[in-house]
Amino acid sequence: MRIGIPAEIKPAEYRVAITPAGVREMVEHGHQVLIEAGAGEGSAITDAAFEAQGARVVTGAAAVFGEAEMVLKVKEPQPAEVEMLREGQLLFTYLHLAPDPELTRGLCGSGATCIAYETVEDTRGRLPLLAPMSEIAGKIATQAGAFMLEKPLGGRGILLGGVPGVAAANVIVIGGGVVGMNAAFIAIGMEADVFVFDKSIDRLRELDVDFAGRCSTVYSTTLAIEEMLPRADLVIGAVLVHGARAPFVVRREQLALMKPGAVLVDVAIDQGGCFETSRPTTHQDPTFEVDGIIHYCVANMPGAVPITSTHALTNATLPYATALADAGVTAAVRRDPGLRLGVNVAAGQVTHPAVAEGVGMSSVPVEDALNLDKPPADGPQTGHIDRFEARRREHAEARE
Ligand SMILES: NC(=O)c1ccc[n+]([C@@H]2O[C@H](COP(=O)([O-])OP(=O)(O)OC[C@H]3O[C@@H](n4cnc5c(N)ncnc54)[C@H](O)[C@@H]3O)[C@@H](O)[C@H]2O)c1
Repeated sequence: MRIGIPAEIKPAEYRVAITPAGVREMVEHGHQVLIEAGAGEGSAITDAAFEAQGARVVTGAAAVFGEAEMVLKVKEPQPAEVEMLREGQLLFTYLHLAPDPELTRGLCGSGATCIAYETVEDTRGRLPLLAPMSEIAGKIATQAGAFMLEKPLGGRGILLGGVPGVAAANVIVIGGGVVGMNAAFIAIGMEADVFVFDKSIDRLRELDVDFAGRCSTVYSTTLAIEEMLPRADLVIGAVLVHGARAPFVVRREQLALMKPGAVLVDVAIDQGGCFETSRPTTHQDPTFEVDGIIHYCVANMPGAVPITSTHALTNATLPYATALADAGVTAAVRRDPGLRLGVNVAAGQVTHPAVAEGVGMSSVPVEDALNLDKPPADGPQTGHIDRFEARRREHAEARE
């Protein structure tokens, strides 16, 4: 297959969708890789490094979109990129279509098959192509919070880890999933006193074992949070209810319970924010103050560290991209029900029910759009569908 990687054109996006290691894998699998000149620059990867592993560097996005059978990207396609997509082409990238009817209509009109990183699931119902970004965001949350606590930046002026004879700061992490665990991990490493809140007792049990008692785990209720807020120096919001807007775990009136200059870091801002007073900010202007409390609400935190983010993202996407290139989209999604959940648009229609609901359009089953119920042409015919159905049921059960 011919795989094309354009340079990302969304403002302040420095990641690229493949690394030289990925090029090497693809080439060894017999595929051709075309990369737009300069695509790796923001992640400190030169054209020569891609070429050394067998990529062909071309000038301009049109050359990439024109030749590629599969376009690999990082961010959702911008209008100029949507125009270059065509029928029969495969697009594999973050899409975030639910809040974006215009882009969804554009992708349907292109005739391309569009697979979204963020809706691909593994066999345990987790989101393997989102997890690396959550790991990074969690680690940045503590770093950024520690920095913002410095007096010249508007914070209370407290050192997270304290020094001998002077107490450490109190860090509260609300939501102990991937983001929360990584945030807590760094806070513990910086020798803060750390409290992780979660609604899932099973998750708290896991964290208790993983951290071997080096942080306190707390069952998350309004009262428990209210009782901690007067002691908090840094509060990191990392809750997620799958598919839903983030719930508010700190309300405006509760800010009055906090110490002036304490810092809130709202990582869940991309899901609407979990503090009532949050609004999205950028790396250029990351904070604002409400009632004496510093708010850090950067919506694309991993964008600050493109070198790490590019490698973390492509480590996760490469096995899926390779499967798609090796088998073609129909056979690849027939084999992997989790990858099938990533198909958001196919044959000119929305194929993901949550996306359809978000944009107010109708959806068709992906099986119909890609003719998946027909016997596969590339494998054993007898029993294949039954095996697939069994796997799909197993997958659905694992998610419950
Ligand atoms: N801003 C960014 O750049 C950025 C980057 C990556 C992820 N995120 C966001 O961070 C958030 C967390 O992502 P994740 O990957 O850690 O999700 P996750 O599913 O791994 O973890 C979420 C946790 O929140 C817990 N939770 C849900 N409701 C709760 C409540 N009311 N109180 C306490 N805990 C509650 C869940 O039990 C779960 O353990 C998401 O909104 C995600 O989109 C933002």
